[in-house]
Amino acid sequence: MGESEKIAKLGAGGISVDLPVMEGSVGPKVIDIRKLYGATDMFTYDPGFTSTASCESKITYIDGDEGVLLYRGYPIEELARHSDFEEVCYLLLYGELPNKTDREKFVRGITYHTMVHEQLREFFRGFRRDAHPMAIMCGVVGALSAFYHDSTDINDPHQRMVATHRLVAKMPTIAAMAYKYSTGQPFVYPRNDLSYAENFLHMMFAVPAEHYKIDPIMSRAMDRIFTLHADHEQNASTSTVRLAGSSGANPFACIAAGIACLWGPAHGGANEAVLLMLQEIGSKDRVAEYVKKAKNKDDNFRLMGFGHRVYKNYDPRAKVMQETCHEVLAALGKQDDPLLELAVELERIALEDDYFVEKKLYPNVDFYSGIILRAMGFPTSMFTVLFAVARTVGWVAQWNEMIEDPMQKIGRPRQLYTGAVRRSYVAMDKRN
Ligand code: CMC
Repeated sequence: MGESEKIAKLGAGGISVDLPVMEGSVGPKVIDIRKLYGATDMFTYDPGFTSTASCESKITYIDGDEGVLLYRGYPIEELARHSDFEEVCYLLLYGELPNKTDREKFVRGITYHTMVHEQLREFFRGFRRDAHPMAIMCGVVGALSAFYHDSTDINDPHQRMVATHRLVAKMPTIAAMAYKYSTGQPFVYPRNDLSYAENFLHMMFAVPAEHYKIDPIMSRAMDRIFTLHADHEQNASTSTVRLAGSSGANPFACIAAGIACLWGPAHGGANEAVLLMLQEIGSKDRVAEYVKKAKNKDDNFRLMGFGHRVYKNYDPRAKVMQETCHEVLAALGKQDDPLLELAVELERIALEDDYFVEKKLYPNVDFYSGIILRAMGFPTSMFTVLFAVARTVGWVAQWNEMIEDPMQKIGRPRQLYTGAVRRSYVAMDKRN
């Protein structure tokens, strides 16, 4: 960066300030406005953070115009094709791909923590059987801080590491328990001889009365789905985890906050919403009607699984997901799935439509994931839970990075106040 590019000049209200320009390893430069308020008595205004970098990070990079997603520099397509979720977890947490010894040690460290405190089973029984599993996840994950007191001191690196391993290890167990509870089947204990994805399928679908054989195509698909969702830089739930953690809250409470944020249909809840939308559309001849509805400004309906704050091109995760979808359905002999046909038709029509083209609205990761998960036997209500299981490693990697950042401060945005100005209290008998 040349000398003249290192300073941004801002003139406002008769005051001129020089603001430093910072440059990352790749991606847009940022203007450092930390001194702005002190120098000008003015804030910046950016609802939804469309132009604001909230932190410095070395974990994940997205180029939304080009449709690129990198974890620690590695393209998501290469990781989905050649790596596995355990390795991706190590990469996100520690910055490099593990060698053989590091991998074995890490996997052992994770599997050591897959069981949950036996008393947590009683905790589940407090929920209604028809509770949404995301509601159970928010409650139970938050409750982990009441069970694991020995890993809540955020200033102790060892305790942070134990909490990190616990969260990554226990999320599949808790997610599967939430599902089993809703069906009335007994909880299935984890099996540490299985991979992360295999163990999750086993805890979800095994029953004590029968042998459960894990299909390698299904476990590979599960692994890929986890890999594709593992991190996505400063999205809403990750920013929630960072904000909650910035006050010094314990990691279990922070991840519970992330789960709550993920639940919304604009974020992780979209995979469930896509499937419900496809079921509502019902047949190919109604696709045009729904595309029209999505374009109507007087109708709050949106095409779920379409559009993204950062991607203004095809979401690279959606491409891998689409391939996996065809693979899984072919393996299950369900390639004629009417919902898949409907999704393909919807994608085709939307991608040719001027509205979607002009606004650069492309399918996102959630567009195809629901179809795969449904074919694999997951109920719709579990889709967002699977997203939470996968994203936990990203959340804790980002949380650890924040705690270790010497520039870290409690997150405390300001506001543009447009309410009443100071006025005196009015007694009841004087009010209108
Ligand atoms: N269907 C119809 N119109 C849309 C859609 C859509 N899915 N998405 C955006 N638009 C329109 C929107 O109405 C707006 O139009 P205008 O400029 O005329 O007001 C324009 O496109 C820009 O949209 P925005 O809401 O300002 O963009 P945003 O960055 O705030 O929202 C989004 C991003 C993902 C919330 C939004 O695209 C959306 O609601 N999509 C559907 C839900 C979805 O699939 N979410 C999953 C996201 S990927 C997984 C994850 O990261 O959680």
